[in-house]
Amino acid sequence: MADKRKATNITWHHAQITREDRERQNGHKAVVVWFTGLSGSGKSTLALAVEAALFEQGCRTFVLDGDNIRHGLNKDLGFSPEDREENIRRIGEVAALFTQAGVTAMTAFISPYRADRDKARAMAGEGCFFEVYVQCDLAVCEERDPKGLYKKARAGVIPEFTGISAPYEEPLNPELVVDTAALSVEESVAHVLAALRERGIIS
Ligand code: ADX
Repeated sequence: MADKRKATNITWHHAQITREDRERQNGHKAVVVWFTGLSGSGKSTLALAVEAALFEQGCRTFVLDGDNIRHGLNKDLGFSPEDREENIRRIGEVAALFTQAGVTAMTAFISPYRADRDKARAMAGEGCFFEVYVQCDLAVCEERDPKGLYKKARAGVIPEFTGISAPYEEPLNPELVVDTAALSVEESVAHVLAALRERGIIS
């Protein structure tokens, strides 16, 4: 999609309090933890459970969830490739803003296109984007079908449904892969926390 910039004659104002100041006050780095995977793979469940664990240890966090954000900020967007791109562009910007505020943002969006995820990575900045591929076979997601959407998609009621009639591009080099078909939620959370600890993002 072309650059959406329309505004001209605008000036960037630098804040007095920096992100580093906020991180020092909070006692942890602020990063984007980007969960990607099929619908029903467990992104939201995992993001919320990781957030609960981080909250318990005093970290400042916030979860941005696809279904929720599409009720408000992104309610003007559907599921065409262009709309998904714009969905992820906005979320990439919002997540980066959270980190500027010293808050670790966890995002739970299918985010099916590699190029869009890579743009979100660039927005977060070097070393501040932690991509978690929430891996789960389509057959298992379809079996879980928590919202009954796969059934509708198979029946042709929902067009452009990811995994059925729209693509999902697997991450090639994510920071972490979590196989939710094989692991419990607790085990998956432990993997994410261990990986964040290994990189010095949390203590
Ligand atoms: S994304 O592809 O643009 O990243 P997002 O994560 O915001 O998608 O929204 C996905 C959620 O929207 C799914 O979990 C599901 O509940 C719902 N949904 C409705 N229609 C579709 C569709 N055609 N494809 C995928 N998810 C859909």
